[in-house]
Amino acid sequence: MLSIKHTLFLVSGVSSFIIFYMGLVNFVTSVDESTGLILLIFSIFVAVGTLLGTVYISKSITKPIEKLAQSMTEFSKTNKMSGKNQIKTNVKEIFELNENFQTMGEKVEKTIGVQNEYVAKLKVMDRKKVEFSSMVSHELKTPLVPILGYVQMLQKEDLFGKLNEQQRQAVNEIHSSTIKLETLVGDILTTQKLDLGKLVFNEEYINVSELLHEIIMDFNPMADEKGISLSMNFDESLHIFSDKGRINQVFSNLIKNSIEFVSPNTGNVIIGAKDDVDCVEFFVEDNGPGIAIENQQEIFKKFYQIDTSTSRKRSGSGLGLAICKGIIDGLGGKIWVRSEKNVQTTFFFKIPKKPIKLLVKKSSKK
Ligand SMILES: Nc1ncnc2c1ncn2[C@@H]1O[C@H](COP(=O)(O)OP(=O)(O)OP(=O)(O)O)[C@@H](O)[C@H]1O
Ligand SMILES: [Mg+2]
Repeated sequence: MLSIKHTLFLVSGVSSFIIFYMGLVNFVTSVDESTGLILLIFSIFVAVGTLLGTVYISKSITKPIEKLAQSMTEFSKTNKMSGKNQIKTNVKEIFELNENFQTMGEKVEKTIGVQNEYVAKLKVMDRKKVEFSSMVSHELKTPLVPILGYVQMLQKEDLFGKLNEQQRQAVNEIHSSTIKLETLVGDILTTQKLDLGKLVFNEEYINVSELLHEIIMDFNPMADEKGISLSMNFDESLHIFSDKGRINQVFSNLIKNSIEFVSPNTGNVIIGAKDDVDCVEFFVEDNGPGIAIENQQEIFKKFYQIDTSTSRKRSGSGLGLAICKGIIDGLGGKIWVRSEKNVQTTFFFKIPKKPIKLLVKKSSKK
């Protein structure tokens, strides 16, 4: 791209040369030698004048414009005005342009400063809020321990005596509600730890086949109760170094969703794993109602539940998939869903065979 200065010098150089050349041609071809000489001298004056005029214009117009353009480029990169940038010019429009740019730049710089201050304050407030609710959730968990303990003792009937049918039903209801509350508080605590970057991951050798068998064993009773089939399909001799407990938690959240969404007696849930170069790709597939394409990104957000009559009938807080995503991100992997409405849903997650050191800390605590 040509600069104004170069264009100006090119145009004036060519014009001066043409003027001088015409004077010279006139001098050589002229019959009257003195007239030719006068015209030649005149053309030399005009050519030199044009060049000098160009130098003057360049100094008073193009130089300040160049300087202004330079300041603007710098400002667009740094959002900072490098001091009061006084440009010397006699051209009214350029002077005004520079003044306006200075004023505008200072205002933008100030606004960005204020905005950054607010963002920093909001971050601090947000952190305090999460820390406070984390403390509250933790405190909520403490009384749940004796509640559950006493309810279980009541259910056993050894210590506190026999219960009549009505009492047994009431105690069972307290028990299942307490378990739900315990799960919810646990999920809130996990989400908060993920938000604060405080969830610590373990690193251990995992035999994938064993892991899947254990998961199937755990969920078989739940699947049997609903009359649905739960099976697995995986590549042999896969193993990874990762956090078994957390991977279990991800599978558990996904399988619970699938079992809840498929129809009783015709439902089919398949879990599995396959080799994928440096990763192992796990999946949970079901023949439930599916998830519409517009909801497929949203469901990984905290507290998001698809607002359909089916989902409203269910309990749950909408934290399950957000926790799955947080865990998989923390383990250096990726989670996604593929689904066809009224046909099937498959959740996939990929985990590196060897953990990414930055994300996985060795710790005995969870
Ligand atoms: N297998 C699935 N089939 C159809 N919809 C699903 C499936 N899994 C999840 N969803 C949709 O995604 C939403 C979010 O799921 P998520 O597990 O995060 O929350 P939840 O199951 O409603 O509550 P929570 O898991 O916290 O008890 C669900 O409410 C449901 O609408
Ligand atoms: Mg769920």
